[in-house]
Amino acid sequence: WWKKRNDEYDARNALRNEPMVVLDGKETSAKIRQELALKVKELKAQGRKVPHLAAILVGEDGASRTYVNAKVRDCEEVGFGSTLIKLPAETTEAELLKAIGKLNHDEDIDGYIVQLPLPKHIDETKILLAVDPRKDVDGFHPQNVGKMTLNLPTYIPATPQGIVELLRRYEVPTEGKNCVVIGRSNIVGSPMSILLSQHNYPGNCTVTLCHSRTRDLEEICRNADIIVAALGRPGFVTADMVKEGACVIDVGITRIDDSSKKSGFRLLGDVDFDAVAPKCSFITPVPGGVGPMTRAALMMNTMKVTELED
Ligand code: GUN
Repeated sequence: WWKKRNDEYDARNALRNEPMVVLDGKETSAKIRQELALKVKELKAQGRKVPHLAAILVGEDGASRTYVNAKVRDCEEVGFGSTLIKLPAETTEAELLKAIGKLNHDEDIDGYIVQLPLPKHIDETKILLAVDPRKDVDGFHPQNVGKMTLNLPTYIPATPQGIVELLRRYEVPTEGKNCVVIGRSNIVGSPMSILLSQHNYPGNCTVTLCHSRTRDLEEICRNADIIVAALGRPGFVTADMVKEGACVIDVGITRIDDSSKKSGFRLLGDVDFDAVAPKCSFITPVPGGVGPMTRAALMMNTMKVTELED
């Protein structure tokens, strides 16, 4: 069936007489929250525990505060319990480890995240290692990274998981496609490259993971059927780097001061959307693409606590 579908899409792309499809993360994430809210109702009707998500935020970083507040709002919308633990920027590593230990032992908390980045004086690896892997809904603990790599059931980092979910729901063909991931972060690029090369759908791609030391990046991109741009440089992916009919996923969310906005800033993606979109079969916008899907994926992971065994 996949071959037939791929052929259909290829034929369509060759003709290019159909408009490109904008992968609407805002709408899709709202639908996912509705589905999760229904599941919460079912859990309640069965007299079972409703998932409770906690988040630890250290310091005053504006973007991190916005993200964490949004996650709490999402929990409220789907009916999960939520707890926000705000710690000052001067919090020591020992104090943060203590807060983590408390959450590990709190039976009411099913899952929690430590919002990154952490202040420079705190060793991120040490912190992520301290999180109980069973409560690690971010999927950042080495044990869960290992399980993900082996395609075993576990928590998948929210951004790549959100992208995979978006590809699935729009039935974007991936089998046998050349996929170029730009950026090798532990949070996005690296897990994305693993997921898209796995033996399932969405997956079965031939993945090239590119980074700051990559040679001939433009040429490699021109060969890609799918591009995932996750390097954090506004407008980096230009039209001349994109093949006709490609699917382009933009993970960039750089904040640029903009006094005409209520928030005082606007978000810029890693892709020059206006120039690139006309060449695409599928493309994600910024905002309203990957960002909301990341949040929805965290909610999906939190629901997973009811399904995953130790
Ligand atoms: N900072 C940027 N993305 C993420 C994420 O997915 N989880 C956490 N905890 N921090 C982040």
